[in-house]
Amino acid sequence: MCGIVGYIGKGCALDILLNGLSKQEYRGYDSAGVALMVNDKIEVFKEEGKLINLRNKIKPHASKLLSSHSGIGHIRWATHGAPTTLNAHPHQSTCGKVVVVHNGIIENFKELKEELEKCGCKFKSQTDTEVVAHLVAQEFAKVKNLTEAVCLATKRLEGSYALCIMHQDVKDTVVATKRNAPLLVGVGDGEYFVASDVPAIIEYTKKAVYLEDNQVATIHSDFLGIMDVEHNIITPHIEVLPWESVSLSKMGYKHFMLKEIHEQPDIIRNILADKLHSSDSDVTLDGVNIDKVMLKHLNRIQVVACGTSLHAAIIGKYIIETLCDIAVDIEPSSEYIYRKTLTDKNTLVIGVSQSGETADTLTAVRQSKKRGSHILIITNRPDSTMAREADSLIPVNAGIEVSVAATKSYIAQVMSFYLLAIHIAQLKGTVDESLTAALKHELIMLPMKIESILSHKEQIAEIAKIYSGFKNFVFIARGINYATALEGALKLKEISYINATGYPAGELKHGPIAMLDETMPVLSILMTGSVYDKILSNSEEAKARNARMIALTDSEDEKLDELFEHIMRVPQVHELVSPIIAIVPLQLLAYYIAEYLGKDVDQPRNLAKSVTVE
Ligand code: F6R
Repeated sequence: MCGIVGYIGKGCALDILLNGLSKQEYRGYDSAGVALMVNDKIEVFKEEGKLINLRNKIKPHASKLLSSHSGIGHIRWATHGAPTTLNAHPHQSTCGKVVVVHNGIIENFKELKEELEKCGCKFKSQTDTEVVAHLVAQEFAKVKNLTEAVCLATKRLEGSYALCIMHQDVKDTVVATKRNAPLLVGVGDGEYFVASDVPAIIEYTKKAVYLEDNQVATIHSDFLGIMDVEHNIITPHIEVLPWESVSLSKMGYKHFMLKEIHEQPDIIRNILADKLHSSDSDVTLDGVNIDKVMLKHLNRIQVVACGTSLHAAIIGKYIIETLCDIAVDIEPSSEYIYRKTLTDKNTLVIGVSQSGETADTLTAVRQSKKRGSHILIITNRPDSTMAREADSLIPVNAGIEVSVAATKSYIAQVMSFYLLAIHIAQLKGTVDESLTAALKHELIMLPMKIESILSHKEQIAEIAKIYSGFKNFVFIARGINYATALEGALKLKEISYINATGYPAGELKHGPIAMLDETMPVLSILMTGSVYDKILSNSEEAKARNARMIALTDSEDEKLDELFEHIMRVPQVHELVSPIIAIVPLQLLAYYIAEYLGKDVDQPRNLAKSVTVE
């Protein structure tokens, strides 16, 4: 979703802004823009589409812009107003002197716009953001101080925002502020950076100040001042960012998604090296502050998440209920936040989020925290807002995920649930020694098994070629792999735009079977274990309706060749950890189908990596 970058110092602002925006491209966006202070005048360039379009627009003017040492930039993911050049940020006040870039949504923009229009402000875009530029200009005309004008303007705003603002009459100054959207100020040597995401600035500095809600940073090239909107001075708390300079390189792979799928075995190895050394050792989860007393009073666990993270949570439910005998409810965060939830101090609430910034999940965990629940966050971003507000934290350590479609972070989230379940079972004393020993052994074997799937990926690519012309798919599974069916279907939908649906196989006959005929491939996730025979029967039912049958299985049963037209075989695996094996061919299938169809695999249309609006 949208990305902000700001710079003030002695370096070339244009290069730093464009580079910062390129490092946030992975978040998904549809237009881009920059505003630079050039010889005491603000120059704005913006363009719809990818960053290359903006670069091309700037090229003829570059020589005069290179001397600029301050500016702000933005990539936009449209919410209010189409993804056009006019709606791209930065937005300007009527006088053109105030420029604003914004992440988030100004919910009361319609009322503010009406009021500002009555005062003579001329609006050029359909965005909610433009009101901020006009409001700041209006306040600045009264108070003649940019920081104060921003404080007064933001007091009028409802909704969420991270803002970076400049005024042509206020030299050597960038003002930044936020509410319910992340924003940090990078501290360099005689220079400062503003960013909504670490990759934008990490190659310039590892020191940064995370702004809190309603704080306003006034940034000059040699000074950073922070206060809150009530004028209380805040001493900047400079942190060292927990990131190495981020190499956003595809390392020879055609797409980041393919590279990230291939990283999965090593990610599992790293997680295990850190938290589970051998099948006889205990799991150690340093950031989890759950003790025996708390577990004694715990009556339920609720897990809130969205999209792929929600699918990881469904597997988490199976495994925690199996190992720990505690009831676990799963809910999409966007539903959880708009109903009465029976959460209290005896509920453990787990928020799962790759980005740690997803607005719905953040709101859900904040609501539960207010009711006294212990909040455990499972995230790939230990520097995120969710992680910073958590009582307990499991960083999944998948490394930065560039492809919008989540793959490696999903596997790392699922791994985290296994380790959490074993950890809780250890604490609670519900450990079934033989089961946990088997489970630990299976977890340790996973990387090798995934590597074996990856080494045969051409077979999946062949199957993908055959099926890339179909318009609809059904994925069926039962038990712990129901989430695998949902996730496999989601991957296909996201990157190939094919209508794919995941069903519990037993539900097929309750309605969806009506859709089946020779135009509908049915992909059965047929992992050996308690529900294998049941799924086999459900697959027979689908075959009897002429559906095109594909199996994903760890069974070597040759009879499957009669039932299924194509079979993706994976190494044999314990049923409880089978989701980690089963998802890999489905990630590859979705990848290759999208590839054959010539889709933008890493940045699918309409999607954003970090969804910071509700
Ligand atoms: C799918 C995908 C999304 C995210 C969802 C939640 O590939 O990436 O469905 O899983 O937007 O995002 P996080 O996990 O950052 O909260």
